[in-house]
Amino acid sequence: MEIVSGLAQMRQISQDWRTQGQRIALVPTMGYFHEGHLSLMRYGREAADRLVVSLFVNPAQFGPHEDLATYPRDLERDSGMAREVGVDVLYTPEPAAMYPPGYQTYVTVEELSRGLCGASRPGHFRGVATVVLKLLNQVQPDVAVFGEKDYQQLQVIRRLVADLNVPVEIVGRPIVREADGLAMSSRNTYLSPEERAAALCLFRALKAARELALSGAKSRESILEAVKGIITATPHTDIDYLALVHPETLQEVNTIEKEARLALAVKVGKTRLIDNTLLSESRLCCV
Ligand code: PAJ
Repeated sequence: MEIVSGLAQMRQISQDWRTQGQRIALVPTMGYFHEGHLSLMRYGREAADRLVVSLFVNPAQFGPHEDLATYPRDLERDSGMAREVGVDVLYTPEPAAMYPPGYQTYVTVEELSRGLCGASRPGHFRGVATVVLKLLNQVQPDVAVFGEKDYQQLQVIRRLVADLNVPVEIVGRPIVREADGLAMSSRNTYLSPEERAAALCLFRALKAARELALSGAKSRESILEAVKGIITATPHTDIDYLALVHPETLQEVNTIEKEARLALAVKVGKTRLIDNTLLSESRLCCV
């Protein structure tokens, strides 16, 4: 595995691969890898001849009072894990090269970025869309792989690529969870043992909602009431949003027609956690 931080070198490598007719997969990340990241890498490994993983803690997607400075970083650990999965290139661009002095171009995916996390993190999806488009332009992969953990992000990226005619296939992969159900996240490292226990209420709430939907509950009110009850009964929690939305448009829905996405963001202590699940009338679909 090669660790590449220069853009010219990255371009040269991927151009050489393309000349040889090789198919390239890209997994964009901000590092501090866990099984969620690794599952995307394993998928990319199978889906293409060559696998590039980008590791870039993107300043443009953090608000002024967010955790950019304290976001967990450990290149040595990450490169060991990436090597083991069979990554060909770990691409680690420098912030000053991604956003040099005079930088002023940003992409906004308008409606999809407004609600849910976009409401409490203004500018976040503009930063995500911009950096993902830059990474796609830099690496020029055939396929790029993202997790459903960040469900709104996935929909924003699908829209971005469709609207701007970017020639890449976007693949969304299922959420990887800890044994007890907590969705894996680099930010879970911020949780104290008490908060870690409290954080389980997100998964418990999603599970309860799934059971309710399977037993015939269809209305937004009945589902969100149950979810709210479980979370507010848990100490150290503060709900940012609970939403039942159309799986693609992310518009709020009042009833589940076949399928809907339940998405939530909850502060546990000082750490903001997100999770989501598909709600369906039939057992045929899963988490
Ligand atoms: P990051 O939070 O590092 O996540 C990188 C990728 O891993 C994203 O596609 C995310 O959805 C996926 N992921 C995270 N936790 C997961 C889990 N438990 N199960 C499955 N997939 C999971 O998301 C970002 O970085 C950034 O916004 C990025 C897209 C790299 C742009 O900067």
